[in-house]
Amino acid sequence: MHRQRCVLRYHPSSGGGPMTTGRKLKLDLGDVQETMLWTLYHRATEARDPETVLHDPWAVQLVETIEYPFEKRFGTPTAGQAQWQALRARCFDEEIRRFLARHPDGTVVALGEGLETQFSRVDNGRVHWLSVDLPEVIEVRRRLRPDDAPRQRSLACSVLDDRWMTGLDGSRGLLVTARGLLMYLRPTQVHGLIAACAERLPGGALLFDAVPSWLSRRSTLTPRRTPTGYRFPPWLWGVDAGETARLQALHPNIVDIREIRPPRGRGPVYRFLVPLIGTVPGVRGRKVMSIMIVRFGPSGAPAPSRAIPPDPPDLPRR
Ligand SMILES: C[S@@+](CC[C@H](N)C(=O)[O-])C[C@H]1O[C@@H](n2cnc3c(N)ncnc32)[C@H](O)[C@@H]1O
Repeated sequence: MHRQRCVLRYHPSSGGGPMTTGRKLKLDLGDVQETMLWTLYHRATEARDPETVLHDPWAVQLVETIEYPFEKRFGTPTAGQAQWQALRARCFDEEIRRFLARHPDGTVVALGEGLETQFSRVDNGRVHWLSVDLPEVIEVRRRLRPDDAPRQRSLACSVLDDRWMTGLDGSRGLLVTARGLLMYLRPTQVHGLIAACAERLPGGALLFDAVPSWLSRRSTLTPRRTPTGYRFPPWLWGVDAGETARLQALHPNIVDIREIRPPRGRGPVYRFLVPLIGTVPGVRGRKVMSIMIVRFGPSGAPAPSRAIPPDPPDLPRR
């Protein structure tokens, strides 16, 4: 598979590696890797809110540990952005908990995990966890939050390099997650990745989020910037009805694709408006992010659609 070019420029004074000054870690990341600091910063901001929708004390601690000009670079986070990042994370947490209710000893593979602290939020004491990210990110991750072996491990490799699939044990259940990742890959790369999962991970599932195609097109034409001048890398891949149909047709072992609604948050926007946008025809197309799950049949053979049992009744859907 094609390897994505990635550049990490450590702070010059660090001598080519992350540097700890006092108790802080100094880093200067390449464009795509740096996006993990955006999501971390917003989750930490939300976690400090007394009425937070996501209990995430590690995010706060990580932001305090890294020497990086979060506010100067990204601007002051709005409460809305911070809550949205946390609600996305919570949606993934809830889906993972549902998976672990069915497969308590299952394996979760978190692709492009950045500095997510999800393992600590959903750990049931039995899950096996693999974080996959670009080498420079994994190095920082290991410095800041060493893996809790043997159940938690990390692998430094591109998600486009199928090494991460080697030796995965799907016999006790397998869920692959990709939050905030696929939009940075090209459509052919996303298709290759999903087809490879369908082929190599029978019985598993891939949980991911995606921006709509119109937003992806817009971001490649007009780069998104914050008022402080931070420029987001373009979103190269997005979904619409046509793309969802293309995903379904990528491999005969794709048996189901469905959308997952994010949980309700606090305040009128996240309590009422955002859930409404996801359901009302006409405005549904204007939503800015979808969370989806693709399920793979138990073998390489084609399986009928809807072969996947519904969620257990003890974990109700929102
Ligand atoms: C927006 S961040 C999301 C981080 C985390 N999932 C979260 O939601 O906070 C995107 C992450 O994807 C990683 N990434 C981008 N392209 C990748 C690739 N080809 N292979 C592995 N990781 C990649 C980046 O290094 C970064 O950590």
